[in-house]
Amino acid sequence: GNVGNVAQVVVLVTGGCGYVGTHTVLRLLEQNAQVVVVDNLAGVIRGSDEKKPVSLERVEELAGKTVNFHNVDISDAEALDKIFKLYRFDCVIHLAALKSVGDSCSLPLDYYRNNVAGTITLLEVMKSHQVVKLVFSSSATVYGEPQYLPVDEQHVTGQRVTNPYGRTKYFIEEILRDLCTSDPKWSVICLRYFNPVGAHPSGRIGEDPAGVPCNLMPYVAQVAIGRLEKLAVYGNDYSTPDGTGVRDYIHIMDLAEGHWAATKKILKEKGAKAGEGVESSWLAYNLGLGRGYSVLDVVKCFESVSGRPIAVDFVKRREGDVASSYSDCSLAGSQLDWKASRTLTDMCRDMWNWQSINPNGYQSN
Ligand code: WQD
Repeated sequence: GNVGNVAQVVVLVTGGCGYVGTHTVLRLLEQNAQVVVVDNLAGVIRGSDEKKPVSLERVEELAGKTVNFHNVDISDAEALDKIFKLYRFDCVIHLAALKSVGDSCSLPLDYYRNNVAGTITLLEVMKSHQVVKLVFSSSATVYGEPQYLPVDEQHVTGQRVTNPYGRTKYFIEEILRDLCTSDPKWSVICLRYFNPVGAHPSGRIGEDPAGVPCNLMPYVAQVAIGRLEKLAVYGNDYSTPDGTGVRDYIHIMDLAEGHWAATKKILKEKGAKAGEGVESSWLAYNLGLGRGYSVLDVVKCFESVSGRPIAVDFVKRREGDVASSYSDCSLAGSQLDWKASRTLTDMCRDMWNWQSINPNGYQSN
C-alpha cells in the first residue's frame, strides 16, 4: 500500500540481530518503519562492542537505512527502561530467546531464566511505559506431539511438550494470555513458527548457527559446502512415506512477511480502554507453508539445487523428535491476509546461495 502518508511506526525488535531478527528488521525497514533493536549478542558474531554486529550492518546495507542498535539484555530492567525513555514505541516484536532444544534439556534453568523471566522483565518495562502491543515469537513445539494433522491453532498446547525450550514458549504464551485477561488494553499476537529455513535471495544475510548445526537445513548446507562430511539421518523407521521425519519448512522471507502482517494488525487493534468490557485481544497464528517434506525430500532437493552430493548415514531416532508435523495456516490467511508462497526449491536455492557466498557465515576469515 502507499506507505508515504502513513505516520512512521516505531517498533522495538528484541533479538533483532539473529536469523529471524535480521530478516524481520529488513522487512520492517522496507515498510518504512523506524526500527530499534536490542540484542545481547549471545548468539551473534560480534563486531567490536560499540559497533553493530555484521548481520545488522548487512541489513542496513540491503535496506539503505539505519537501525538504532543497543547491546542490551532483556533481563536488564534498568538498561531496558533507558531504551523505553529514548523512543515512543508503537509495538514490540519479541524474538530474543535461547532456542536450542538440546541445550534446554541439559540447562533448563538457563532457559527458564533467560526466556521466561527475561520476557517478564520486558513486559514490566513495557507496562511502565504504556507500551501494550506485542508480537511474540512462539513455536510449533507448544503443540507437543501432534494429535492430528495438519495442526491448526485449536490444537491443544502444553501437553506432552518434549523439551524445556518448547515449555518456555508455552509458559510465555500463557503468561501473555493472563496479562491480556487482566488488562484489556494489551494486544498480543503469538506467532507459532514451524521450521524456518532459507535466506534473503541476495545471500547477504542468512542463518549462521554457532558450532555444528542442530537443525537439518544448515547442516545439509554445510555438507554441501564441504564443512561437514555427511548427514546423519535421525531414524528412517517412522510411519512416514519414506520412513524419515516430516516437517513443515517455511522460507524465512515468508516468515518475515508474517511478522509485518501481524504488526500491521496489532497496530490497528484498538486496545480497549479498561472497563469497556471489550474482549481483550490475545491471538495466536501458525506460520508455516502448510505442507510437510521428509528429510530425504530436503536432501534430494538440496542436491539438485546445489549440484553437490549429500552423503547420508541412517542412524537411530533423536530423543524428543516427532514423526510428522505440518501446519494449517488458514487462520493467518483470513485474519492477517498472509500466506507463505515460496517453495522448497526456493528455500534450498536461497540457503545454498547464502552458504556458498558465506562459507563461514558472518565470520570474515
Ligand atoms: C528437522 C528434521 C530431524 C538434523 C526444531 C525445534 C523447533 C524449531 C525448529 C526453534 C527432523 C531431522 C535434523 C540432523 C536429521 N526451533 N534431522 N539430522 O526438530 O523439527 O524443530 O527446530 O524454534 O522448536 O524443535 O527441526 O531441523 O532439528 O529437524 O535427520 O542432523 O530433520 O529428525 O525430522 P525440528 P530440525
